[in-house]
Amino acid sequence: MKKNIYQPIEAKIQDIIQETPTIKTFVLKPESEFLFSTGEFIELTVPGLGEAPFTPSSDPQIKQSLDLTIMNVGLVTSKLHSMTKGDVVGIRGPYGKGYPLDKFKGRDILIVGGGVGLAPLRSLIFSLFADIDNYNKVVLRYGARTPSDIVFKNSLTEWSKKKKVNIVTSVDVGEPSWKGNVGLVTTILKDLPIDITEAVSIVCGPPIMMKFVTLKLLDSGFKPQDIYLSMEKSMSCGLGKCGHCRIGKFYVCRDGPVFTYEDLKNIHDIWD
Ligand SMILES: Cc1cc2nc3c(=O)[nH]c(=O)nc-3n(C[C@H](O)[C@H](O)[C@H](O)COP(=O)(O)OP(=O)(O)OC[C@H]3O[C@@H](n4cnc5c(N)ncnc54)[C@H](O)[C@@H]3O)c2cc1C
Ligand code: FES
Repeated sequence: MKKNIYQPIEAKIQDIIQETPTIKTFVLKPESEFLFSTGEFIELTVPGLGEAPFTPSSDPQIKQSLDLTIMNVGLVTSKLHSMTKGDVVGIRGPYGKGYPLDKFKGRDILIVGGGVGLAPLRSLIFSLFADIDNYNKVVLRYGARTPSDIVFKNSLTEWSKKKKVNIVTSVDVGEPSWKGNVGLVTTILKDLPIDITEAVSIVCGPPIMMKFVTLKLLDSGFKPQDIYLSMEKSMSCGLGKCGHCRIGKFYVCRDGPVFTYEDLKNIHDIWD
């Protein structure tokens, strides 16, 4: 019988980590091994309600479980946020083209994340760390709205102790106990400890953040082909069939979600 490409497999919620007041990480145990490459996405089904796309935040080397770090913004995500350990969801995929790790080898890697945009980047960071000798250095610049909105707090502290790794976090609005930088993430893109001519940058966050980070990176000397962007568009099929996720000549689900700025720079509405 022909396989139904839209048929999800079952995945049990094994654990739930409250990252911030609006973001939770769901640790899922799929009914069978689930393989993905960093940057690829999945479609998650909340039974009886609908589907939404998410990029796993866990280490792609782990096949028995996968983490999704999800912000509560609407119908599917709010129902998901009300679910508990042991509940069952559906997943199908993985879909799209993820991060081309081969093109990053031997280079300085600048990762710029905003808010829940650190989720897909966490799986990239795990992949880079697994093979760290093949990269020059990993520099992470992360921005969140307030200190309470920072995701993966423990991981950020742990990662910053690693060799070849440099991390700075900034918040838009501080709190008395916050000792770090205050300002938009673009304010921590100055004096980067990298050789821009040898570096690639990888950006993920809300569209407005990606726009201003991209402009700043271009201004600093990054070439459009060395700026990688994770694009988010409303999706339906996830398979390049329905046209929901079109930007210019591309379908984000099939041709992305990871694109270089070189691919997208002549499309006028990429940040909408
Ligand atoms: C490839 C990909 C990977 C993603 N990875 C993550 C992730 O790791 N973590 C995470 O929290 N979110 C991620 N998203 C965004 C996530 O898919 C949306 O937040 C989700 O679809 C909202 O569904 P909902 O039913 O809860 O909201 P809805 O009720 O559909 O809408 C709520 C609000 O969110 C807006 N919205 C809906 N869908 C999207 C979308 N796809 N992109 C931007 N805005 C949208 C709507 O305009 C509306 O304002 C990803 C999106 C894509 C395309
Ligand atoms: S979601 Fe259907 S074509 Fe991309």
